[in-house]
Order: sequence, then structure tokens, then C-alpha cells
Amino acid sequence: MSKIIDGKAVAAAVLEECRQEVEQLKARGVTPGLAVVLVGEDPASQVYVGSKVRTCGELGIHSEKIVLPTETTQEDLLAVVERLNADPAIHGILVQSPPPPHIDEEAIVRAIDPAKDVDGFHPENVAKLALEDPSGFVPCTPAGCMRLLKEAGVETKGANAVVIGRSMIVGKPMALLLMAKGSDATVTVAHSRSKDLPGICRQADIVIAAVGRPEMVKADWVREGAVVIDVGINRVEDASRKSGFRLTGDVAYPEVAPKCAAITPVPGGVGPMTIAMLMKNTLISAGRS
Ligand code: GUN
Repeated sequence: MSKIIDGKAVAAAVLEECRQEVEQLKARGVTPGLAVVLVGEDPASQVYVGSKVRTCGELGIHSEKIVLPTETTQEDLLAVVERLNADPAIHGILVQSPPPPHIDEEAIVRAIDPAKDVDGFHPENVAKLALEDPSGFVPCTPAGCMRLLKEAGVETKGANAVVIGRSMIVGKPMALLLMAKGSDATVTVAHSRSKDLPGICRQADIVIAAVGRPEMVKADWVREGAVVIDVGINRVEDASRKSGFRLTGDVAYPEVAPKCAAITPVPGGVGPMTIAMLMKNTLISAGRS
């Protein structure tokens, strides 16, 4: 029988650690601060940004929510980033992705002070992750997946891990974390163009599904006793729901779960961990100030 990895419970424990760290920082005269910038009106981004700001409030972290209209220019957005870089009350800066298409996201990320880049997307932090230099910031979602594996007691040392997806936000940093010293997994990075994806997946002791395709990973892709971490959050139509849709992962959960040693559900798996690790990164940054 598979064990369901409860991301909500692990995230709650991480947030409790954060609450104590906020108190310690405040006792030293430091109030941690996070700025969250949203350009445009993407509904999913509005929900994520709202959750990030609300969680800051619950922990006693100062937050600044900056909502800019869709037609905001690159220049105006850069000016906002520059102001936040210079603001000593702000330790973390996050520009919600994806921005509207006329914005050059890479240039915006490069403009963020790497010391305040709590998303871990700046090239300097990407390099530090590859170099296993702990002075950088680790992207929140893969950091959350590593924490889930740890809390579930999953042995990564020597394990065959297959990461499906090669995004800069999840797939690539996830692969680096799994292969890093201390984790010591043997890592394969596969993606939508990989030949024989099911066959590659069947070799895995640990599957990380981060490809963004609803329920792509089927039961016959997964070895009996594997551990499955599902990073996908996909909206699919569901006429039986009042909303007309439901959220589902990249894994066909009902058929895959019975084969696994452990699996994360969607929702309630990786999702809550992303925000918890963002809070952690913000406190790390504040602690260095
Ligand atoms: N959009 C989806 N995930 C993320 C994230 O981790 N950070 C930011 N800035 N935008 C996102």
C-alpha cells in the first residue's frame, strides 16, 4: 500500500519553524520583508500572489504587494525592481511568473539583486546551485520536493531518480539538488521529447513529474515500490464540478498510487511546500542582512 505524503502537514511544520525564526530575527531588531510584484491579471498568479502575501502576514513577515497593470513597460518594471533592490526593509523580491508577453522576463530576473532573489532564478544563484555553494538561494518548488523526500524518509543515496521536465523553475534545479553531495542520487532528466519516456520512468526508484501535462504518468510507467513526487498543477474540465474544472497533477493518481511506496497528492502535495520554502528563503536573506 502506498503512503500518501502530506504536503500540507510538512508545510505547516516548515511554517512553524519560520514563525520561530521570525521571532529570533525580530529580537535582533530585524523585521524580515518580502516584496511580491504582479504584472497583469492572470487569475492563477493572482491566487499565488495572494497566498504568498497572506502567509507573510501570518508569520509576522513584512510584505509589500505591488500590482501593476498589464500594459506596464519593461522600463517601469525595472524601475520598481531597482527601488526594491535599494530598500533596506525588503530582503526578498519576487516577480510572479509568467509576466505579460511584452516583458523580457530574463532581463527582469537579472535586474534583481542576487542577494534578494528568493526565487533563486538569477544566473548567479543558478550558478551557485550548480557549484553547490550554499550562499545562494535554491528555487522554492524543488527545495520543497527535497524536503518532502526527507520528511517521508526516502533514501536518495544511490537511488535512480528520474526527473520528467527540464524547466528552469523545477526540472533543472531539481536534478541538481538530487545529484548534489549529501543527496547522492543517480539522476536522469527526461522530457516530453525523450524517446521511450515510459521505459525511462520504469527504471526509477524516485519519479519527479514536472512536465505540465495532466495525468501523463500512467501505472505502467511506474515500478512497483517507487516513490512519486507530482509537481504538476493542471486545470482540466470537469462537468461534474460546480466550477466546471478540477485540479490534477502530471500523474494519473488513482492508477499509480497503489503501486507506489509513497506518493504526493494534487492538491495538498508539493503546492503548499513552495510557499513555505519561499518564506524560508526570505528569512535566510533577512538573517544575512
Ligand atoms: N510562477 C510559478 N511558480 C513560480 C515561482 O516559484 N516563482 C515565481 N516568481 N513565479 C512563479
